[in-house]
Amino acid sequence: MILESLFNKKVELTELRKDFTVLSRQINNKPIVYFDNACMSLRPKRVLEVMEEYYNKFPGCAGRSNHTISNEVGKAVDESREKIAKFFGADKHSIIFTKNCTEAINLIANAFPFKSGDLVLTTDKEHNSNLLPWLRLEKKWEIKHDWVESGVKNEFSMDNFIKKITEYKGKVKLVSIVHTSNIDGVTNPVKDIARVAHRHGAKVLLDCAQSAQHQEINIKKLGVDFIAVSSHKLLGPNGVGALISTKENLEQLNMFLVGGETVKDSTIVDFVPEDLPERFEAGLQNYPGIIGFAAAVEYLEKVGIRNIHKHVVKLNEIASKGLSTLKGITILGPKDAEKRSGILSFVIKGKNVHEVSLLLNNMHNIMVRSGAHCVHSWFNKEENKKSLFKEGTIRASFGFYNTEEEVEKFVNAVKEISEL
Ligand code: ALA
Repeated sequence: MILESLFNKKVELTELRKDFTVLSRQINNKPIVYFDNACMSLRPKRVLEVMEEYYNKFPGCAGRSNHTISNEVGKAVDESREKIAKFFGADKHSIIFTKNCTEAINLIANAFPFKSGDLVLTTDKEHNSNLLPWLRLEKKWEIKHDWVESGVKNEFSMDNFIKKITEYKGKVKLVSIVHTSNIDGVTNPVKDIARVAHRHGAKVLLDCAQSAQHQEINIKKLGVDFIAVSSHKLLGPNGVGALISTKENLEQLNMFLVGGETVKDSTIVDFVPEDLPERFEAGLQNYPGIIGFAAAVEYLEKVGIRNIHKHVVKLNEIASKGLSTLKGITILGPKDAEKRSGILSFVIKGKNVHEVSLLLNNMHNIMVRSGAHCVHSWFNKEENKKSLFKEGTIRASFGFYNTEEEVEKFVNAVKEISEL
């Protein structure tokens, strides 16, 4: 495995870091430490190169005109589609490009053949992107939304889930859940959830925004029906994501965004829908984004998802151990860093989370995120409003290009700030 050997020899990790131009940036004559990977990953040069190639060599539109440039972009997008679909274990006709993970979830919310009274079940730890689409539908009286309360340790409770889905007696049509939480890094037991959901006649939509960079996401192996991802968390460009499914599931969806390329033909009063996946990709698409997304996936494959997981967990273990020796620090989620993937969310007693993140940035160029991380609903629960986490957390999230030295710097910086 490439990365295993890379990480045994520090010099080779240094080589790999050279693929990420921004990592050599200095601010106030000090290197930057980028620990905001859960928000946005960095991009290797290769991703930027292929996007530039699009603009320099074949900056046309795909699937419309019949000239060399258009055919070249058509071919590049088609190959990219195949590559990305394969990465997620899907068929190339079963991937729909969207703007991001949020748009992929909104696509399902608008296209799923819900009937009045149908129910969507989420967890109580969803990002706004997997909560608001259901609340919006509920406000329009189109569906009902309910959630599975986490168990005692704030982890997914299979008992609560089974109880709830059973009580609804077949009314739950969609279980829409986060794979890995962006607030504490905990991964939900998806295969078991999918088995139960299917037994009760519900489809499963998995928000893989956080998990896709660290874990193998194969739609068949996970046993879910729909997967939503964002390229910008996977070393790819902004403004592109995907909904991944199967032909059978996508055939069940109503059309949502419509326009150019979503129809085979139209008259002034009617139209004939296009085949999959174009039926769902209205208007000119983000061609350089799709091509960049495929290059990112190729890069991830080269490094190896398992290696990435191992490395970020190792960094998280070192960081968590370091923080746990400090006074006044409380980590959100399980003690065991392995259960928190690449995320370390914490608070410092008596310190405002936003001030701490600002100090980390201003004093040491250490970049983290603070607050509710778009999961306001969880932090607004009565018990959490009374807890140490009432203002949210300071969240460090690690990438495979981060180093142990950076983690040490971070632990020392947190110590310094906690003693201020
Ligand atoms: N979901 C992203 C985060 O957690 C934006 O930072």
